[in-house]
Amino acid sequence: MDKTKPEKASNKSHRVATSGDIEVSTYLEIAKEIAGEQPTPSEEVIPEAEREAIIVIDFGSQYSLLIARRVRECHVYCELVPHDTPWERVAPLNPKGFILSGGPASVYDPEAPLAPTYIYESHLPILGICYGMQVLTKQLGGQVTPGTKREYGHAVLHLSDADSQLFTGLPDSSPVWMSHGDKIGEMPPSFRALAYTENSPLAVMGNDDQIFGLQFHPEVAHTPEGKTILKNFVYQVCGCKENWTMGNFINESIARIKEQVGEGKVISALSGGVDSSVVATLIHRAIGNQLTCIFVNNGLLRREEVERTFNVFRLNLGMNIIYVDASERFLHRLKGVIDPEMKRKVIGDEFIKVFEKEADKIGKVDFLAQGTLYPDVIESTSSVSSASATIKTHHNVGGLPAKMTLKLLEPLRYLFKDEVRQVGLELGLPEEMVWRQPFPGPGLAIRIIGEVTKEKLEILRGADFIVMNEIKEANLYRQLWQSFAILTDVKSVGVMGDYRTYGYLVAIRAVTSQDAMTADWARLPYDLLARISNRIVNEVPGVNRVVYDITSKPPSTIEWE
Ligand code: XMP
Repeated sequence: MDKTKPEKASNKSHRVATSGDIEVSTYLEIAKEIAGEQPTPSEEVIPEAEREAIIVIDFGSQYSLLIARRVRECHVYCELVPHDTPWERVAPLNPKGFILSGGPASVYDPEAPLAPTYIYESHLPILGICYGMQVLTKQLGGQVTPGTKREYGHAVLHLSDADSQLFTGLPDSSPVWMSHGDKIGEMPPSFRALAYTENSPLAVMGNDDQIFGLQFHPEVAHTPEGKTILKNFVYQVCGCKENWTMGNFINESIARIKEQVGEGKVISALSGGVDSSVVATLIHRAIGNQLTCIFVNNGLLRREEVERTFNVFRLNLGMNIIYVDASERFLHRLKGVIDPEMKRKVIGDEFIKVFEKEADKIGKVDFLAQGTLYPDVIESTSSVSSASATIKTHHNVGGLPAKMTLKLLEPLRYLFKDEVRQVGLELGLPEEMVWRQPFPGPGLAIRIIGEVTKEKLEILRGADFIVMNEIKEANLYRQLWQSFAILTDVKSVGVMGDYRTYGYLVAIRAVTSQDAMTADWARLPYDLLARISNRIVNEVPGVNRVVYDITSKPPSTIEWE
């Protein structure tokens, strides 16, 4: 136990909103910190050739990240930065324009965050969205007034100046999504109204210096023409080129990795998940056998998972992989453990031990590769608790040997998940791997209620395999965030032929979700559910009843433990 890091509230969860890849990365990071070493932040892998960017100044809206995604979908590089980011951090990105995000504050609060003055001094185009529009109104000499009532939901936008560059290709009226309390009372000097809604006479304003304000949110799906407005802003107003493509990203990353690593050695934990798979493939493409992957079989994986991962990486891609079958060790440690949080702790702890032992055999290593993605980077710089922060508080794990002074290599840290998938496909990874649903780091252990045993793992693997096959067969796999089986510790009576049975109850969970923070249970067709149920009771010994979980998150979580 690490006595220097007391456990906080024990009822807090170790759940993270991401896949097992992040969990594994986090274990390794914690281990290094405990060994008394702070991880060295990786050098930034931002494409350099013809680099240009749109910078989103973040005022804390729940949609800020979405703005960045929308701009990237236009093949223009975009970064989200806190509102107090210094110019020295922004300048190297070669900004072509700024977007001011929405946010929860009111501009006339004395503490209200404002935009850095360099955005105005730069004479680059600016697009203020919602709170961002109010910020620029205040800073440029206009007036914001407190709204008497909050305007929330759909509104119809009418263009009063259809010739504005922002509106190219837009119909005269279109639906938009509003969410604001305060309003623009008086525009700053030299601005004019460009569009209105019933309740907002100044729904869009602009001036000749290419500064615009939108009272609504163009980044959300409820504003169907929003993407056109953002496209107009980045192409026509800012003059950006469409050079942010995954092909460019791959070429530039490979060059950067080569330069960063030189003759050094890199290790990486491979889990079979999308992020760790893409990281390993990209680095392998750059430096070949200087990369060694460690694939720990914790005995808690799905059926055929080990073979599939191994075949792709060792046989197809010819990577250097150390495969460790540590199933017995993990099972031994899990004996008698029924508390879900304790299961997570034990698994994290054991993972570090196994990884450490194997890494030690390789000799001197210089870099640890991780599949950190852009949303993780953003989360860890904001006040919301990140996946790693949550886990760090709670996992008291042993450290990697102090002699392993590793630098981090995180080539995906500027990518969104959908971009990682595109990179994976362009690198030639099988679709099946690239589109894999998230799978938690503690694996099947948190889908077996109660103690984890070999027998129960076999039962769950059998049921889970059928669920996966049938969902894929029905062409629903990609539409679902996750779909899987849970082995409950309930046994019930059944009848098979002339025999009375007393067998396990298996539950099926299938959810749709955008980000795992909330989820809805999937309305799977009855005949699909019937096929799954029939096959499970007929093909999986020990199971005689199947139920479907019809609860959403909240109040339930996606996993049962
Ligand atoms: P919950 O069950 O909290 O899950 O709604 C949200 C998402 O996180 C995954 N999950 C985990 N992933 N380690 C992980 O790597 C964990 O301990 C863990 N717990 C939940 C879950 O599969 C879902 O995608």
